[in-house]
Amino acid sequence: MNLKKFYNKKKILITGHTGFKGSWLVHWLSRYNVQIMGISLRYESKLSLFKFISKKKLIDKRFDIANYKKLEKNVLKFKPDIVYHLAAQSLVKESVINPLKTFTTNIIGTANVLSCLNKLEKKTISVIVTSDKCYENLKLLRGYSEDDRLGGHDPYSASKASAEIVFKSYFNSILKKNKKIRIATARAGNVIGGGDWSLNRLVPDCIRAWSLNNEVKIRNPNSTRPWQHVLEPLSGYITLSYYLKKNKNINGASFNFGPKISEVATVKKVLQISQKYWKGSKFKFYREKFFKEDPLLRLNSIKAQKILKWKKILSLEKTLQLTMAWYNDFYKNKIRVSDLLNRDINYFLNLKKKILND
Ligand SMILES: NC(=O)c1ccc[n+]([C@@H]2O[C@H](COP(=O)([O-])OP(=O)(O)OC[C@H]3O[C@@H](n4cnc5c(N)ncnc54)[C@H](O)[C@@H]3O)[C@@H](O)[C@H]2O)c1
Repeated sequence: MNLKKFYNKKKILITGHTGFKGSWLVHWLSRYNVQIMGISLRYESKLSLFKFISKKKLIDKRFDIANYKKLEKNVLKFKPDIVYHLAAQSLVKESVINPLKTFTTNIIGTANVLSCLNKLEKKTISVIVTSDKCYENLKLLRGYSEDDRLGGHDPYSASKASAEIVFKSYFNSILKKNKKIRIATARAGNVIGGGDWSLNRLVPDCIRAWSLNNEVKIRNPNSTRPWQHVLEPLSGYITLSYYLKKNKNINGASFNFGPKISEVATVKKVLQISQKYWKGSKFKFYREKFFKEDPLLRLNSIKAQKILKWKKILSLEKTLQLTMAWYNDFYKNKIRVSDLLNRDINYFLNLKKKILND
């Protein structure tokens, strides 16, 4: 996969560019000869990865994607070649507190993006990011495949399932007829990596407490999740956009990007491994009464492996080792964030080359 050639002189639109995945993606794609437009909300938390990344190739736009007029004006003016739609209210707990905002951003926002793409008079490749939580959780051990039933017990999951349904209907009745558009959705699991300071996520909660030498209180130790390093789904989105250009048969499809079923781990296991890489880390468990999360979530990514030749590269141990090293070097050794990001991206790409010969 020659990414240098694929991205050469391309205009890339990234919605949600100030978020955790968006910041890593902007940093990664800025290594190529590209121009990037990012669209996100104005608000950023005090400590956010975006503050530290290079913005040399970025046009930084801040408004709500639910504002169709503004979105259309900016997208039609920029005329992107490639689009990664990541903007979302991405937290389950927040979705229970603020369901309307979650539905508006994740469902209407996605419909707005699709509408703008259809108006672009230009060849465009787009990846619409939803989630592993879009599946109706039947506590299946075999892992969810792309054709499994959609559903959601909480507003976040329901909003992502709805975004998938909006996408399918839009594609089948409108976008399919538009010969300029190649588009697909991507469903990935929980991501881990340096620079996430979101609330109510396992690793960021640990780091917030451990960096102050505090004990972290953790809910649901036996919940399992398809944990993976943030670079894994990002490489999935990149690979998907690359193959969308080459293979028209995947236009309108959906792809899972997750670890193997055998690699899915409990919260407790993640904590035990993390402890090895953060000196003096302590945790204790409590029972969450406010809201219930689905305890078991597994993804089947065989379709991405077969059609896109995508493969998860890093073991859970290596993922947590890299992540803890990132935060250690940030807090204790005061190493520059762009150096930390480059170090992990280089390591990941070299390993990928060795494993996949690509
Ligand atoms: N982080 C995970 O573990 C995970 C797992 C599965 C799927 N996802 C999905 O991946 C995508 C990126 O996740 P993340 O972890 O980077 O999320 P994040 O919460 O860190 O970032 C969300 C981004 O979306 C932007 N945004 C939110 N509402 C918006 C609105 N109304 N208008 C414009 N911009 C808006 C924010 O400003 C921010 O840039 C999301 O679609 C998320 O649902 C994330």
